[in-house]
Amino acid sequence: MKVKRFSSMDDLYSHAVATIVEAKNNGATTFGLATGGTMEPLYAKICKTDIDFSHCISFNLDEYVGLEATHEQSYAYYMNKHLLNQKPFLASYLPDGLAVDPLVETARYEGLLQQYPLDFQLLGIGQNGHIGFNEPGTSFASLTHLVTLEESTRQANARFFSSIDEVPRQAYTMGIQSIMRAKCILLLAVGEAKREVLERLLASDYTEDVPATALSKHPNVMVLTDLQEEENKL
Ligand code: F6R
Repeated sequence: MKVKRFSSMDDLYSHAVATIVEAKNNGATTFGLATGGTMEPLYAKICKTDIDFSHCISFNLDEYVGLEATHEQSYAYYMNKHLLNQKPFLASYLPDGLAVDPLVETARYEGLLQQYPLDFQLLGIGQNGHIGFNEPGTSFASLTHLVTLEESTRQANARFFSSIDEVPRQAYTMGIQSIMRAKCILLLAVGEAKREVLERLLASDYTEDVPATALSKHPNVMVLTDLQEEENKL
């Protein structure tokens, strides 16, 4: 796992854009995308470039259960607002939060991922080490599945809703194995709240207790962060 630390947010996000451009220039056409606060400045920057995704396919990591695509806090809405309306892809896939049968929906999504293997996967990280919505304890062999969100994840995401009660309790997420199949992974860990989990990730204890540590066994992962190494640490 390579790590690059930035003292300027602008440089960090410019580097992330450059990494995506480089992947595209090297032939990447299938992109796994993430949502969340960390990704907003990235998508804003991408929208200001002339990057053309019109021959590419996107897959989102996850979607809340129970929210329509038109709901302002659904990830479908987020993606249209922050990226896809301005930078359309040939096709963009997300799990369907309103699917009637979770088993059918997770099989459908995983099937699409296997049909269009990911060249590139963008990741944020939760304070509890989740990637996608793979909460601590998720099997590293997991495929796309239905999850019950941890209370800490609901609390962290409550800032986007008018109250914690409105935060869905379940979500669909790509599994750890679905993520690990991507050829190249770019993880952004931004902000002081991510310091502890970043340290755990970089300490590379490979443990399902910290889902992101699965990445330590991936051959092509780049982590970008604004967090500097703490001085005087033995
Ligand atoms: C979102 C996702 C999550 C977020 C993580 C960090 O699609 O998969 O794993 O990346 O919760 O969220 P922010 O960026 O809001 O801190």
